[in-house]
Amino acid sequence: MKISRINLLYFSATGVTKKCVLKIAEGIGMDAYDYDLTLYKARKQKYTFNSDDLVIIGMPVYRGRIPSIADDFFAAVTAENAPAVFVVSYGNREYDNALLELKDRSEEKGFVGIAAAAFIGEHSSSNLIATGRPDAEDQIKLFDFGRQIKEKVAMLTDLEELTELKVKGMRPYGQDFVNRAAPATNENCDDCGICIQNCPTLAINPENVREVKVEKCISCRRCIHLCPQGAKFIADSHSINFITELVKKASMRKEPEIFI
Ligand SMILES: Cc1cc2nc3c(=O)[nH]c(=O)nc-3n(C[C@H](O)[C@H](O)[C@H](O)COP(=O)(O)O)c2cc1C
Repeated sequence: MKISRINLLYFSATGVTKKCVLKIAEGIGMDAYDYDLTLYKARKQKYTFNSDDLVIIGMPVYRGRIPSIADDFFAAVTAENAPAVFVVSYGNREYDNALLELKDRSEEKGFVGIAAAAFIGEHSSSNLIATGRPDAEDQIKLFDFGRQIKEKVAMLTDLEELTELKVKGMRPYGQDFVNRAAPATNENCDDCGICIQNCPTLAINPENVREVKVEKCISCRRCIHLCPQGAKFIADSHSINFITELVKKASMRKEPEIFI
């Protein structure tokens, strides 16, 4: 089967999913077009893929689901029988039904699944969970996954030859994730506005960086990760307790799972 372009299409609030899809592309061994749909304005453009394209679609796992930005992510995309690889990254707890949800949503849009995988990355809520991952061992697996994809594509003469891709997960996917609290701002804030420019959902008031709309915030932690002053933080006690418990529960190293 002839592939003219490799395309990376992803949402990555704290950069883990991005690292994963880039390494997979390296394993495939072709230069990749980068469609980073993390920012709101990128999800307001239109992207079309066809059967000459191989598209690696990546998202992080939020409470066992894909993030709610998936609605405008997929609204921005049209695919006409474009072969695709589905990738989720998760913080060493579980990915539950997220990979299946990503596959279903992508296939509804006209992508044809040829492979899928769940990789582990440092948890965006705590650097004590899966610290530094994807690490050297994960990088080898990501690269090797890319090579397997390349081999599979080379062996196919037509997408019609594919049997349905099976991944782990169940339908219904589970409850929608409801955010309880937006990040707070401490006295280190110097109003630089980096958080405003980088918020994936425009949840931060452009007139006042200290005001975050909880109904828009998806709790992705991007502002906390990017703030040069360390001024954004989680203050809500429910979230703090949840993360403290998670650090204990998610301590046993999980390994990537590949479906090909
Ligand atoms: C709101 C939220 C919910 C999360 N839910 C899960 C989860 O259910 N299971 C898990 O293992 N990790 C979970 N994580 C961790 C992320 O999936 C993980 O850190 C991911 O690699 C982040 O990817 P990114 O850097 O591309 O945004 C969650 C993170 C956030 C911010």
